[in-house]
Amino acid sequence: MLAMVAFSLQAHAMQDVASDVFGSIPGKGQVERYTLTSEQGMEVAIMTYGAAIVALRVPDRTGQVDDVVLGFDTLEGYLGDNPYFGSVVGRYGNRIAGGTFKLDGETYVLARNNGANHLHGGVVGFDKVIWDASPVADDRGPSVQFSYVSQDGEEGYPGTLAVTVTYTLAAGNELIVDYEATTTHATPVNLTQHAYFNLGGEGSGDILDHELSLNASHYTPVDSTLIPNGEVAAVVGTPFDFKTRPARIGARISDEHPQLTIGGGYDHNFVLDSGEDSLALAARAYHPASGRTLEVYTTEPGVQLYTGNFLDALPGKGSHVYGRHAGFCLETQHFPDSPNQPDFPSTILRPGERYQSRTVFAFGTAAM
Ligand code: BGC
Repeated sequence: MLAMVAFSLQAHAMQDVASDVFGSIPGKGQVERYTLTSEQGMEVAIMTYGAAIVALRVPDRTGQVDDVVLGFDTLEGYLGDNPYFGSVVGRYGNRIAGGTFKLDGETYVLARNNGANHLHGGVVGFDKVIWDASPVADDRGPSVQFSYVSQDGEEGYPGTLAVTVTYTLAAGNELIVDYEATTTHATPVNLTQHAYFNLGGEGSGDILDHELSLNASHYTPVDSTLIPNGEVAAVVGTPFDFKTRPARIGARISDEHPQLTIGGGYDHNFVLDSGEDSLALAARAYHPASGRTLEVYTTEPGVQLYTGNFLDALPGKGSHVYGRHAGFCLETQHFPDSPNQPDFPSTILRPGERYQSRTVFAFGTAAM
C-alpha cells in the first residue's frame, strides 16, 4: 500500500515534465528543453546547452505570471554574445588569479579568458557544452537531472569530473538545484547557477528598485581585476551592508566607494553568516511594484551579488533590450580564487569524495 502511494506520487511528478527540441548546434547535436510546471502556477524551462534556465515564470501579487529571468528566445541567442544567462557555471565559478594554481605540489595552468585570469571555467566552460538530461522520479515535484563528464585536462583542470545538476520544482514555488560531482584526480570544483533575475519581469527595466537583504556580515574585497585581495572585510558602515541595513539595490550603488568603482556596481562575494554545509537563508529580494519575492537558500559559504554591471544594449527575449542593471545574479558559491587563497574554505575535491551542494530559489509574493 505504502509503495503504491509512493509510486503514484512519483508518476504524478514526472507527468509535469515536458520536453521539446530547442535547437541544434552544427557538429555538436540537438539541444532539448525541459519544462517543469507546478500546481501553484510556476513554470521553469531548462535546456541541455549549459543546463541553462531559459525561462522561469512566476505569479505576481495579482496572479499575473511573468518570466523573471533574462535570456533569449532562440538557441542562436545563447550561442552569441551571452553573459552566462541562466547557465550552470563550472568547473569553477568566478575567477582564478592568473589562470593558475598549485595543488599537491603540481602547478596547473588553466585557460585565461578574462584578461590574465580564468573566469567561469574557461573558454568552453560547463555553460558551453551540451549536457545529457532525463526526468527523474522525485516525490517533491517534477525533476530533471542533467549530467556531464568533464575530461581530464579540460580547460587545464586535472581529473575526469562526472557532474550532475538536478532541478526540482517543489511545492511552494521552490526551484531546488542539487549539484553532485566525483573526480578521478584532485581538482578544484565550484559550481553555481548564473540566472539573471528581474522580479518585475525580464525586460521591464533595471533592478535598482528591488529591496535586498543578505545574510552576510562580511565580504571579500577585490583588486582591479576582480580577484579577492585576501581580506575578509566587515560590511557594517559600507554600501555592502545588506544585513543590518536591507536596502534597494540602487540605494547605495553609486556611492563613492573604491570597491563599487572597481566593480562598476556590485560584483562581489558575500561571506554568509551561516557558514558551510547546512541549508540556510542567504538572500531575500523583494520587488515592491509586482510584490514578487525571491528567497535564496544554500549550503554554500558564499554568494556573488552581481548587478549586471556589464550589460550593455543586449537584445534579449521578445523585443527587449537589456541595459546596465537589467538583471541581478545571486550566485551561490565557494569564494573566488580559493585555490590560491589558503584562508578561504577549500574547493578541492579528491577521488573517493563526493561534491554535494544545494541551492533553493523560493518564489513568493508579499502584500503592499
Ligand atoms: C562575475 C562578473 C562577470 C559576470 C558575467 C559574474 O559572476 O562576477 O564579473 O562579468 O559573471 O560573466
